[in-house]
Amino acid sequence: MKELVCKTSNTHQYPILIEKGIKDRIASMKTLFAPYHKVVIITDKNVAKKYLADMERQVRAAGPKVYSIVIPAGEESKCMGQVSDIYDELVKCNVTRKDAILTLGGGVVGDLGGFCAATYLRGIDFIQVPTSLLAQVDSSVGGKVGIDLDAGKNLVGAFHQPEAVIIDPLFLDTLDDHYLMDGMGEVIKYGCIKSQGLFVKLMSYAYHEDLLDDMEEIVAKCCAIKKDVVEADEHEQGLRRILNFGHTVGHVVETFYKYKKYSHGQGVAIGMAQITKKTEAEGITQVGTYDQIIALLENYGLPTKLPKMPLEKVQEILFTDKKFENNALHICALEKVGRAQIVKIQKDQAIELFR
Ligand code: GLY
Repeated sequence: MKELVCKTSNTHQYPILIEKGIKDRIASMKTLFAPYHKVVIITDKNVAKKYLADMERQVRAAGPKVYSIVIPAGEESKCMGQVSDIYDELVKCNVTRKDAILTLGGGVVGDLGGFCAATYLRGIDFIQVPTSLLAQVDSSVGGKVGIDLDAGKNLVGAFHQPEAVIIDPLFLDTLDDHYLMDGMGEVIKYGCIKSQGLFVKLMSYAYHEDLLDDMEEIVAKCCAIKKDVVEADEHEQGLRRILNFGHTVGHVVETFYKYKKYSHGQGVAIGMAQITKKTEAEGITQVGTYDQIIALLENYGLPTKLPKMPLEKVQEILFTDKKFENNALHICALEKVGRAQIVKIQKDQAIELFR
């Protein structure tokens, strides 16, 4: 088992436990569950079918009473209406500050359930059990929780760190290829921004089976990078911005196609390629980096070409990006594979990223 500890303040730290098969050992985590009278599992319909009954049994065996809330699968659930429904359920279950939420699912479940945990009774504890690759390597660690508004993704949220993140790479064995590749967009991001070694390793896999065999190590490497960054800059005032490599362009692509044509990982892949094309042309990034990134993304079937979108519409979406501050955007650019820096772009120049 790989065990990391994420220490975000003098008073809060939490374990990130990564091991194949750990999902079947939750019943033995009596110390983790000891503080709670009740645990409310939040999950979605797809995950519930496969894993909910067993998770309920295990958490109950660990000590607390168990309740479950099952939401519809998909990004549409990350909304205020769903939050309100969950609050109603938490009231019905008589949840107090001595209780906790356990999120069992992908990024939507983790972000939404975490947001409910951050806000219900001014904040209760929560434990993340991410089941998608994207959630395992990125959204479950670091405490960003939130929901979408019609005006844009993740516009309402909080920083609320979990009490533990329990990651079982075996969940990925039953994940559709599409979702696995979606997560690979974020995995490749970690190689680009912080680890040439990971980047090179990812180049070496010819078969999915080999990739899945090594998943414990790959997920642990990504989580270790993320935890270091989050510990240094929990509230995204500086360094944490490197985790958004490719995300500004990706956000526009995802939004322009209404989250239907491109997944998050695909949007990030296009964004990483597009930004690197630009920064390499400007001499910020070492020549050849763009070709390396394209080759790796293509290896995992991820898109690299910016689709044609009218610039007026791009501008409209871009300006809703919550990362704009004082008419400037801080974006992550690579010096070379494995080394990132933050570049400031004025609002009137930002559209150049899309030409
Ligand atoms: N997903 C980027 C971050 O957690 O900062």
